[in-house]
Amino acid sequence: MSDNQFSSRIGFILAAAGSAIGLGAIWKFPYIAGISGGGAFFFMFVIFTISLGLPLLLGEFIIGRKTGKDAIEAYSTIAPGTKWNLIGYLGNVTVFILLSFYSVIGGWILIYIFKGITGGLTDLSPQGYGELLGSVSGDPLLSIIAHLLFIVLNILVISKGVQSGIERASKIMMPALFVIFIIIIARSLSLENAYAGVEFLFKPDFTKITSQSILFALGQAFFTLSLGVSGMVTYSAYLPKNTNINSSAISIVSMNLFIIILSGLAIFPGVFSFGLKPDQGPALLFNVLPNVFSRIPFGTLFFIAFLVLFLFAALTSSFSMLEIIVNSITKGDNTKRNKWSWIIGLSIFAFGIPSALSFGALSDFTILGKTFFDLADFMVSNFLMPLGALLISIFLPLKMKKEELFSELSNPKPIKKWLFNTWYIIIKYIAPIAIIIVFLDSLGAFNFLKK
Ligand code: PHE
Repeated sequence: MSDNQFSSRIGFILAAAGSAIGLGAIWKFPYIAGISGGGAFFFMFVIFTISLGLPLLLGEFIIGRKTGKDAIEAYSTIAPGTKWNLIGYLGNVTVFILLSFYSVIGGWILIYIFKGITGGLTDLSPQGYGELLGSVSGDPLLSIIAHLLFIVLNILVISKGVQSGIERASKIMMPALFVIFIIIIARSLSLENAYAGVEFLFKPDFTKITSQSILFALGQAFFTLSLGVSGMVTYSAYLPKNTNINSSAISIVSMNLFIIILSGLAIFPGVFSFGLKPDQGPALLFNVLPNVFSRIPFGTLFFIAFLVLFLFAALTSSFSMLEIIVNSITKGDNTKRNKWSWIIGLSIFAFGIPSALSFGALSDFTILGKTFFDLADFMVSNFLMPLGALLISIFLPLKMKKEELFSELSNPKPIKKWLFNTWYIIIKYIAPIAIIIVFLDSLGAFNFLKK
C-alpha cells in the first residue's frame, strides 16, 4: 500500500475482506470439509470462527490501528526492548511458505482460464474432468510456469503499490462473484441427489469428530480470516485512528462465512450427484464445478467468468501475503518497494517449486507421509497460523493494559462493558487455552481419555 492511508473505511473493509476471502473459502474449505467428515467439521469451524476468529481479528486490528506500524515494528512499538516482535518474524516466515503453495493453486486457475478460452473445457465427462486436472497438475513445466505467472502478478501489483485500484475493482468483483455463485447453486441444488450433498455439509455427525478434524477446523478458521500472521495488523496500520474496527471485523467475518456457505452449496451437491468422492483432496473444486457448469446454458462462458472472479479473490489474498513481507522490510520507504517485491516474490517462487511438482514428478516424494505441497499446507494452516494466533492472544493482555484495550475498542463508538469483558476473557483465557488443547489433542495427549 504505497498511498499510505485508506481513504475510506469501505476501502479498508474491501482490502481486509479481500485478504480474507480467497482460496481458503472457495477452494480449501470444501476440500478440508470433504476429508474431515462434512457437517461436524462445518459446525466446529463456525464455532471457532465466531468464538476465536472474530476476537482475534479485533486483536490484530487494535495492534495495527494503534501503532500504524508494520508486522514486526508494531510489536516493538507496544513492547519496546522485548522479543515480542518475533511474532512479526514468525508471521513473515509463515506467509512466505503460505504463498509458495498458494500460488500453485493460483497457477491452476490461470491454466483453467487459458483452457476455457481456448476451448479445452467443453464436452468432458465427470471422469474426463478428473483426468484433465491430473494432466494439468501433473505436467511439471506447465505447473511451474503457471506458478511463476501467479507470483509475477503479485509482484507487479505489490511493487507498484496499486492496491487502491484493486480495492475499487473489488466493489464490482465481489458482488459479481456472489451472483455467479447463486447461478451455480441454483443449478447444483437442482441436480439429482443434490440433497445428499446439503446433508453432508450441514448435518453434523458428531461421531465423525477426530483430533485431526478439530485441528483442521481451528486451522481453517484462522486461515480464512488471515489470522496469526499479522496481516490484519499490516492492513489496519493504514487506518485513520477513528475508524470503527468493531463493525469492520463483524462485516469481514460475516462476508467470509457467507462465501464459505456458498462454496459449500456450490460444490457438495455436485459431488454426490456425479458420484465423485468428497474426500479427494485439493482437486475437489476443479473436478466438480466444470461438471455443474456443463449443465448450465452457456456454461463455458459462466465457467470462465467464475474462474476470473475466483482468480481475483485468490489474488487479493495473495497480495496481502506479499505485502506483509515487503512492508516489513521497506517500512513505508517506497523507493525500496520495487526491488524487494521482486527479490521476495522470486524467492517464494523458487521455494514453491517442489510444491508445484507435488502432483506429478514429486508426487511419490513424501516427508512424514505428506508431499511437499501437503506438508507446507499442513505446517502453515495447522501449526504456524494457530501458533501466531496463540502468541498474539498472550501478547495483548500481557503488554497492553485492560483500560487501554477498552478504550481502543471504544474508539470511536463506546462498546458495552459486558461485550468488552467477553472479548477480554476470550483473548486472555479461552483463546490460548483452546489453541493449546487443540495442539495437545492433535499430538495424542488425550488419547487415554478416548476408548
Ligand atoms: N485468508 C486467505 C484465504 O483464505 C489466506 C491468507 C492467510 C491470506 C494469511 C493472508 C494471510 O485465502
